[in-house]
Amino acid sequence: MEKEVLSILDKRTNFPYDIPIEKGAIRASDLRRIKSGPDDFGLMSYDPAFLNTASCQSAITFIDGDKGILRYRGYPIEQLAEKCTFLEVAYLILNGELPTELQLKNFVAAITRHTMLHETTKSFLEGFRHDAHPMGMFISTVAALSTVYPDAKNVHDPEVRKLQIHRLIGKVPTIAAYTYRHSLGYPYIYPDDDFSYTENFMNMLWKMVEPKYRANPVLARALDILFILHADHEQNCSANVMRAVGSSQADPFVCIAAAAAALSGPLHGGANEEVLKMLDEIGSKENVRGYVDKIKAGHGKLMGFGHRIYKNYDPRARIIKWAADQVFVATGRNPKLDIALELEKIALEDEYFIKRKLYPNVDFYSGIIYQALGFKPELFTVLFAIPRTVGWLAQWQEMLQDPEQKIARPRQVYTGYDVREFVPIEQRAVRAASASR
Ligand code: ACO
Repeated sequence: MEKEVLSILDKRTNFPYDIPIEKGAIRASDLRRIKSGPDDFGLMSYDPAFLNTASCQSAITFIDGDKGILRYRGYPIEQLAEKCTFLEVAYLILNGELPTELQLKNFVAAITRHTMLHETTKSFLEGFRHDAHPMGMFISTVAALSTVYPDAKNVHDPEVRKLQIHRLIGKVPTIAAYTYRHSLGYPYIYPDDDFSYTENFMNMLWKMVEPKYRANPVLARALDILFILHADHEQNCSANVMRAVGSSQADPFVCIAAAAAALSGPLHGGANEEVLKMLDEIGSKENVRGYVDKIKAGHGKLMGFGHRIYKNYDPRARIIKWAADQVFVATGRNPKLDIALELEKIALEDEYFIKRKLYPNVDFYSGIIYQALGFKPELFTVLFAIPRTVGWLAQWQEMLQDPEQKIARPRQVYTGYDVREFVPIEQRAVRAASASR
């Protein structure tokens, strides 16, 4: 078959170039051959915020944003959410195939073995102020695990990597639950390996004086589904951070802390908490139209709406809406749902949102269901970080095994001064400082 090429004529030199096209992409480094003269560095591509740059090849997650499709390792998210447990999906994401019964049993046992935190890590958590945000505690405590497991630095040993992956997946719910108990001043509850991953998490969050905590199975399943939906989402902001920090061969604990920091921002995973604040601000269905008009006039954004990749309904939001109905049977309806449904209806019929292809994303309904499950808004982004740890680790592992990957180091288009004569301090005049220089 004939190779696909892009032919470019550089009008500066009238020199033609053939740039190979592979899998629908050209290699940006091929552009370096295009020079205006012998001293020219070569052409670069300029792509702030990576709007059109593939930073890696990946076989983990597939998204078709126009059609609203999401698949992990080729399996549609709808089927995985309906038929699998979270740890089954975690195994799939990390290893590429769905586990056999025995593989799953061993994987669950390996994760369960690593749910405890070192007592010094518990004391570390106790040092936070009572009103510390759970996400700040989560990020710092995950980073602190790097000091507990110095063996994790050996990132090129597959067995060492596997051990850290089990440790991290096992420990993130324990850290998350302890951040919650800390903010309430409750004693920490140790993990209980009689329970499934999500039941154990609920146990560590909510067990009080009863001898054995019993999770409501409907709520535990709903949380498991939410974890499945949040497990990976290809090269989003936090996955990109995971890969970038990991590319310097830093250990996975500090890499996960960095990725979680990226997740915490309100434009990324922090949006679920912001949605609840927004629904509180709107207050009632009657105020929705006025609120939407304010957004259209340029006052803020509709939180939980819009996505860099999805220009259609986010398939995860659809499943969350379905799961919310199951949860509300057990918990009673969250009155904020009516405001959210009205907001969605008005926005989806509005020219502003239609033109920009702004649809509800995963964060729009997740807060409502989390609140019905009994979580406080401050914990919502931590609830996102627990399952996303699996995706971050899969992306990290894939990056380390990819012979084409090197330390992440983008180029820049320099816009500062050319060389200047140094001015001694007594001769310096006050000039208007430019933030960009
Ligand atoms: N409300 C109102 N207008 C919006 C919204 C929104 N939520 N999102 C985008 N727009 C508008 C922008 O103002 C812009 O309008 P313009 O063309 O008139 O300037 C246009 O739509 C395109 O938006 P961009 O900001 O260029 O889109 P980008 O891909 O950079 O941003 C993002 C995507 C960050 C998700 C954005 O839609 C947003 O801020 N949404 C609200 C926060 C949110 O819900 N984040 C969670 C995303 S899902 C996740 O990370 C798990």
